[in-house]
Amino acid sequence: MKASPPTEAPSRWRAGARHLRSSATTRVAGRPRLRKNAVRALKSLGGAIGYAAFVEPYWISLTHVDVPVPGLSPELDGYRIVHLTDIHHNLVSGPAFLESVVRTANSLDGDLVALTGDFVTHNPRRMPQCFRILSGLRAPDGIFATRGNHDYGLPLDRMSRIARRAGVRLLENEHETVSASRHRIAGGGDARIVVAGVGDLWEGHPNPSLALMGAPSDGVRVLLSHNPQVAEIVAPWHRVAIQLSGHTHGGQVRPFHRPLRMLSDGTAKYASGLVEAPATRVYVSRGVGTSALRLRWNCRPEIALVVLRSVPGEP
Ligand SMILES: [Fe+2]
Repeated sequence: MKASPPTEAPSRWRAGARHLRSSATTRVAGRPRLRKNAVRALKSLGGAIGYAAFVEPYWISLTHVDVPVPGLSPELDGYRIVHLTDIHHNLVSGPAFLESVVRTANSLDGDLVALTGDFVTHNPRRMPQCFRILSGLRAPDGIFATRGNHDYGLPLDRMSRIARRAGVRLLENEHETVSASRHRIAGGGDARIVVAGVGDLWEGHPNPSLALMGAPSDGVRVLLSHNPQVAEIVAPWHRVAIQLSGHTHGGQVRPFHRPLRMLSDGTAKYASGLVEAPATRVYVSRGVGTSALRLRWNCRPEIALVVLRSVPGEP
């Protein structure tokens, strides 16, 4: 004889059964969903970190910057300066990467190359190898450099010798005047460029007056300074047409397109790009390498081609 089910379960049973059903549902459906979301989040975080560590630091961008120079002689209109900065030669910015940077820089057909410091990060023993690779740079009017805050691990004369062997002229509060070889004046004269370099703001003693002392008045003046804030001590009588700088790395890691680092030291105005300073213009490059965090996010490494453009006005 078959037992018939109870027609009405006691209310305590019904409540208990409802509770059991709801906890079972939570265990079966709720935890896997949580786990799935956590896995998805970890995957996207891992992907983001992988991208910031292994993709963007090697994804060089080329920037073409036209710089208006009032009173620039028409012969120099279109003068091309290839600007590299903050190489930070290390395992991330290693030999193969740096060789590809040199090849790309040479493809820009610059008249002159400007290197604005931070060739290494903490290890000055990497300096010779860094300059050996940079010796592949080519420019008819020369390759000039200045030191960044990370380059003071070697004495100046030692670093100058390493640079000279690579065909690079290191400038520390001094200048050199070069004839613009591809821009000769029809009458036989020379169009001249004054390239000046100053010491680093943090580790050295930047002195634009000393750097430009005795510079000819007719040459267009280009100032190399690792730290862009030196522009605040450049005066109108220095007549600097353009200052080339780095140091900020453009922020390097920019979640939501806002830099994580750098703002605390007051360089926000000079984060990156072409900036109007009190007495000159500054081009601040995002640089080639990385320091501190070896990551880049929304802030690709950069090689800049700075082109001087003649505009009416007093030099
Ligand atoms: Fe740097």
